Amino acid sequence: MVSYSNMVNHKGKSSKAIRYIDLFCGIGGFRIATEQISAELSIPVKCVFSCDIDEECQIAYEENFSEMPAGDITTVDARDIPEHDILFAGFPCQPFSIIGYRRGFEDTRGTLFFEIARILEAKKPTAFVLENVKLLVGHNNGKTLKRIMSALRDLGYYADFRVLNALDFGIPQKRERVFIVGFKKACLFDWPKGSIHMTALQEILEDNVPDQYYASERIRKNRLKKHKPTKEPTIWHENKAGHISAYPFSCALRAGASYNYLLVNGERRLTSREMLRLQGFPDSFKIVCNYSQTRKQAGNSLPVPVAKAVLKNLFIAQGWHDSYVEHDFNNLQYQMVDGQMMIFEKGEKYGRRTKVKNSRKIQATLSAK
Ligand SMILES: C[S@@+](CC[C@H](N)C(=O)[O-])C[C@H]1O[C@@H](n2cnc3c(N)ncnc32)[C@H](O)[C@@H]1O
Repeated sequence: MVSYSNMVNHKGKSSKAIRYIDLFCGIGGFRIATEQISAELSIPVKCVFSCDIDEECQIAYEENFSEMPAGDITTVDARDIPEHDILFAGFPCQPFSIIGYRRGFEDTRGTLFFEIARILEAKKPTAFVLENVKLLVGHNNGKTLKRIMSALRDLGYYADFRVLNALDFGIPQKRERVFIVGFKKACLFDWPKGSIHMTALQEILEDNVPDQYYASERIRKNRLKKHKPTKEPTIWHENKAGHISAYPFSCALRAGASYNYLLVNGERRLTSREMLRLQGFPDSFKIVCNYSQTRKQAGNSLPVPVAKAVLKNLFIAQGWHDSYVEHDFNNLQYQMVDGQMMIFEKGEKYGRRTKVKNSRKIQATLSAK
């Protein structure tokens, strides 16, 4: 099997900052992940453009990153966006049904995804990372995502997607999100596996939470009829049918959910800081908006450790870090197998049962154009 260790180490590491843009930036989940990876891998990064239509998000973003994001992306001329290496976009889960029945780029007009495609077409960054709700994967029997992927490939990108769960990346929140990565040039990108030990809920929860966070006695009594408290803290989740489940982790934070949708030990709401911690935001993140705005922002944000894991592998795949290994793609050939691009050396054939010893097949998690 061709592995990273068979490949030639990359020597020419550049000290130039990696420039990125933060579209639909919210309160900067992608930005925090990028800054953390930059510090961890000692790679300089620079945000050259950010935008979000929501004024409260803009205030929070400016307070935390000393930069006021631009507003509505639909009014931004791509020529006004600086050149950049990576495009990030946690684009809103708009009614995807707008995406019609033609194929590719043209098909996406009228959606916010089209704004991303428009900027990719004009600026042609080296790579991109998009994030959205898991629902996108199954929407319209998978046809919506298929069209999005085909639009990205029509723009000249090798693109692939994966559903990742925040629970696998160390934070006590079950949050499944689809990540889409794309590269201008074929490269060996590995989706992160996660399997990071989950931080205990106890470490996320604050002590001495003020009375205002406690649900009414009626609600608490009602909850206790349906579920019994445990010694270790749990978060009680009420589904649409009124069924209560309790776990040592939170269900996905949601921007527009009822205030009693998640209750710590069935009795109180999460504080702003707790919600941000559940998304992996460091405590250095300044909370400047009121409770309901911060709740909405945290619910809309992305799980920072998941974005960080994706980015780490992207930086490595792009050769922006010492552990990068270069491979001569001229000696490789590609074949689509089960929707994934299998790369193997020329002259070799991919066979389903070639996982046996000394197979020279490698699997790259890229999809072919
Ligand atoms: C899913 S959230 C992304 C959150 C972000 N990834 C974070 O970490 O906080 C989508 C964001 O898109 C913003 N948005 C919606 N329509 C927009 C538009 N036309 N132009 C710019 N931003 C927009 C919303 O205000 C919201 O903050």
